Amino acid sequence: MSEFRLTQISDTHLARRQSKLALNFERVADHIDATRPDLVINSGDLAFDAPTHADDLEFARSLHDALPVPCRYLPGNHDIGDNPTQIGPAPERPVNERDRLAYISAFGDDRWHFEAAGWCFIGLNSLVMNSGLVTEAEQFDWLASELASTGGKPVALFLHKPVYLNAPDDPELEESAIVYVPMPARRRLVEMLNTVDLRLIASGHVHQRRDFTFRHTRHVWAPSAGFIISDKLHKRIGVKEVGLVEYCFRPDGFEVRHVRAPGQIDVDLEELLVKPSKTATAEPEQAS
Ligand SMILES: [Fe+2]
Ligand SMILES: [Fe+2]
Repeated sequence: MSEFRLTQISDTHLARRQSKLALNFERVADHIDATRPDLVINSGDLAFDAPTHADDLEFARSLHDALPVPCRYLPGNHDIGDNPTQIGPAPERPVNERDRLAYISAFGDDRWHFEAAGWCFIGLNSLVMNSGLVTEAEQFDWLASELASTGGKPVALFLHKPVYLNAPDDPELEESAIVYVPMPARRRLVEMLNTVDLRLIASGHVHQRRDFTFRHTRHVWAPSAGFIISDKLHKRIGVKEVGLVEYCFRPDGFEVRHVRAPGQIDVDLEELLVKPSKTATAEPEQAS
């Protein structure tokens, strides 16, 4: 295959009780049906909040199963809980093995690798980083072995959280440590990635669209397919709009298109939290 068309969706946050988000997903699904990429990747926060509503994962899975193309998935903090960080408040729901296994049972492996159009594609579970769980060490061992076998091919990495804001050694700040891959796991990850021809890091989580290049790696932050978070609750870094990202990979390079599916609506998180619920008490940074 000399060309590989991939669509990244992210932060769909699906739940039976959130009809506005299901409607946005329906518009995304129609767009996918019309464009028929080779693969769809959902980079996490598939569920509105699985740790508090177990049914959200099953609902999210049922909607993805109806998509007309193959899909791969990665977990988000609203699927399996969040990373402990060195500074800043402890997450309300830290990542844990029970929630990770529930995710795997609904969506399959939380890390994967495949090759297409002369590229190596790697998906990582970013939430277990800095967790101390056995699976964190296992994933790093697995990654080391995958990176050792790229054979010089360009690498595209997918994960839920951006690795950093602008540069690998950005200081961790109390108010934003939870947004990025936390230290010291981030340092280890970056050192490992420095051994390969890493051309793309594609993430979600921030609910803001962003696209920048550091050295020769392009960083694409996919927007949420479901909702935006107002400036009152979350600092503006990129563009706050719902949408998705389309890629076309060829052996000699790749293209990125930032698009909105026809009819997608910029639902605001505050519209979704009108009724009192446990998620309404989440810290703004944890709402993404
Ligand atoms: Fe997230
Ligand atoms: Fe999210």
